[in-house]
Amino acid sequence: MNKRVRKAVFPVAGLGTRSLPATKAIPKEMLTVVDKPLIQYGVEEALEAGIEDIIFVTGRGKSSLEDHFDHAYELEDTLEAKGKKAELEAVRQVLLEPGRVSYVRQQRPLGLGHAVWCARAFVGDEPFAVLLPDDLMLGQPGALKQMMQVYDKVGGNIVAVEDVPRELTNRYGILDVVSDDGKLARAKGLVEKPAPDVAPSTLSIIGRYILQPEVFTELAKHERGAGGEIQLTDAMAKTIDRVAFHGFRFDGRRFDCGNKLGFIEANIAYALARDDLRDGMNRILKQFA
Ligand code: G1P
Repeated sequence: MNKRVRKAVFPVAGLGTRSLPATKAIPKEMLTVVDKPLIQYGVEEALEAGIEDIIFVTGRGKSSLEDHFDHAYELEDTLEAKGKKAELEAVRQVLLEPGRVSYVRQQRPLGLGHAVWCARAFVGDEPFAVLLPDDLMLGQPGALKQMMQVYDKVGGNIVAVEDVPRELTNRYGILDVVSDDGKLARAKGLVEKPAPDVAPSTLSIIGRYILQPEVFTELAKHERGAGGEIQLTDAMAKTIDRVAFHGFRFDGRRFDCGNKLGFIEANIAYALARDDLRDGMNRILKQFA
């Protein structure tokens, strides 16, 4: 029986430079797709997957993230007094259970691996999930829940993956695949952002991970990798002899919301997925066809 995954880490300290100027004064995780900030989709996906405790690895200028998951008394009072029930429900729906959400600061931008390492005391000696909120996953059930079902069978480390065009391997962590049944691929190595001509495959890590705590031993070494940063991919690669590693193609679609077109596409796809907006969205799309 694999140890249950109860905790999730959300690295949210990034500056969001790819989304400027939108992210000059607001965190990129607070950009909205239809009517919810990106971070809310990630948190809802985690809760759906059975996650009980959440930690945000934040940085300067990210306090609106904390406010988003807290009570907003004035707003709630006003909505209540005006009898705006649906709006009140929407505001309260995002409240996290008291004491089950924590925040730690990544004081310097030393990379994704360093951000995850900042959560080590919170995670302790048990498996945990990592969700990168700018990778938005549209799926039923959500990507992390699908990964949990696979984790129950194979254990070890599991990441969500998708096939990318070879010219894009230098944007992703790439798997060195030993076997692949089209859904689940077993890897014997990993490389962070390899050039297309040396990439061991085109199977790329997208922002969902189930990790064993062994990864912290490697992260603690603070070794620099691609881009001079402490990379999560490198730390996972170093435990691959001890901890089985699988890439899982989830059923659904991933949108890279750190990319402007990806973000616009996500807005359209999420509007089309909603009963209350589908017809209106289709009408708008026809005007541009
Ligand atoms: C990070 C990871 C990379 C992964 C990607 C998915 O890169 O380092 O391995 O493929 O997220 O979005 P970043 O996008 O932060 O450069």
